[in-house]
Amino acid sequence: MVDPDFVQQNFQRRLRKIPPQGMGLSVDVYSPDLFELVNRLRKRGLQPGYLEVFKATTIALTTVRQAVPDIPLAYHGEGLWITQPDVQASPFFQQDVSEMVTQLNSLQSLWLNHECAMKQMAGYSFGTYVPPLYTRRSAEVVAANIATVQQAMDRQGRRTDGTAPLFLLEMPPLTYFSAGTIPIPHFFRLVTALVPCGLVLDIGHLWTVYRYTAACRRTSLERFVREFLDEFPLERVVEIHVAGLACHESLGESKEREGLPEWIDAHAAPIPSILFTMLEQVLAHSNLVSLRALALEVDTKPIEIIVEEYAEALRRFSLLVQKTMARGRAVEQSMGLTSRPASVQETMCQSDRQQLRDDYARYAQIISGQAPMTGPEWQETAAEATGLTRYCMSYVPYEILHWGGDLTEMFPQTCRALAERGIRLTEFVVFWFRSPRPLTHSYDFFLLKIERFLEFVTERALDVRVCAEEECDMLRLAYAQANEVGEPVMEMERTR
Ligand SMILES: [Fe+2]
Repeated sequence: MVDPDFVQQNFQRRLRKIPPQGMGLSVDVYSPDLFELVNRLRKRGLQPGYLEVFKATTIALTTVRQAVPDIPLAYHGEGLWITQPDVQASPFFQQDVSEMVTQLNSLQSLWLNHECAMKQMAGYSFGTYVPPLYTRRSAEVVAANIATVQQAMDRQGRRTDGTAPLFLLEMPPLTYFSAGTIPIPHFFRLVTALVPCGLVLDIGHLWTVYRYTAACRRTSLERFVREFLDEFPLERVVEIHVAGLACHESLGESKEREGLPEWIDAHAAPIPSILFTMLEQVLAHSNLVSLRALALEVDTKPIEIIVEEYAEALRRFSLLVQKTMARGRAVEQSMGLTSRPASVQETMCQSDRQQLRDDYARYAQIISGQAPMTGPEWQETAAEATGLTRYCMSYVPYEILHWGGDLTEMFPQTCRALAERGIRLTEFVVFWFRSPRPLTHSYDFFLLKIERFLEFVTERALDVRVCAEEECDMLRLAYAQANEVGEPVMEMERTR
């Protein structure tokens, strides 16, 4: 059995090595241009307390570290699907973890922030984050996978002062639906009882939890937040994120149900004022004792809006954030912790792990519209199925056809040839989810689209294959060159 007190002490020991970072920004290297953004902020006298940088090429991250030596940098990772029971058996897991540690080191980051979410499960791939199954078994798998990643960071990421970066687990957004058998705060409490990780609480994600669970029909937002925070392991929250919300373009005209907009996580969109009201409520909670940083997540947002929003957030919250961070530090100083090594035991048996694999295979089939909602984790979702219907009928097809690379722009000639033969692109969505397939490389949605589209064309219109191959080659070449010089190609939005 894992002793929760031992785990908590281990967390406290690691947390003590992380100095307060204050208020900052979570950014992408390219979108918008990071150096231009920093310059514009400096001109307004708004130097960020820190920058959390999203995964990019190691060369690009090293360049950032050199270009802004006076700003602390943190790392927002991607592509370690720690929710998955078989992730450690993936042929790319070790390589992905090594790359992640290299990038942490190149930024000199104090933590790895990673979403508790995935874009691949059971051989099926998606373009944007899908939340985990909120079940006890799933929480155990998440904890075991985090322990493995933390051990790798302890081994390979240790700094000259003896510290190693801390794993921070971010509660993911809901995109119209959620599935599971236990409340979301309870899930994170189970994880944190097993492993000494920190947490990232994203206020916009919290809003989507209210919006896309039964809570919005049951209670007010203010009461939901209060009850959620009382249950959530708030004492483990090291960083807070605040980002924009917006209706997704696949929905067509803006829709409202139960008087609430159908917003989802949208970093390019302005931050709605309701999130700042929720932030006040979070910062005032007495269990928030480990806070080190608060970032506005602003990747893909126009620089003018970022500058204005950051100035306003500083004016309104910097004092409050400082006070909250000081409150936590006072508690830690009085605790007098002894140093203990990290250790987590494997608690899950093979049959439970296999069961979870099956649950995730069914999950992928349900949300891609291939299987009906069956099983205890889908009971609540099935009672109000509009959200899941929206996800699988509108959101998923949009993701496959347009997001992270629009097919008609990527393959103009092939798409024309397919149209002439009466083959509709929506058939590609069905093809994409028809069966699971083994991974052929680390997660890269753009390369996956290229690979799968060529397979689709080969199956449906063999005479168009040569044309598709030519377009594939051009895309791969442009992509490799863009990655080398560190620039995004076409409309390849960051897949986050
Ligand atoms: Fe976030």
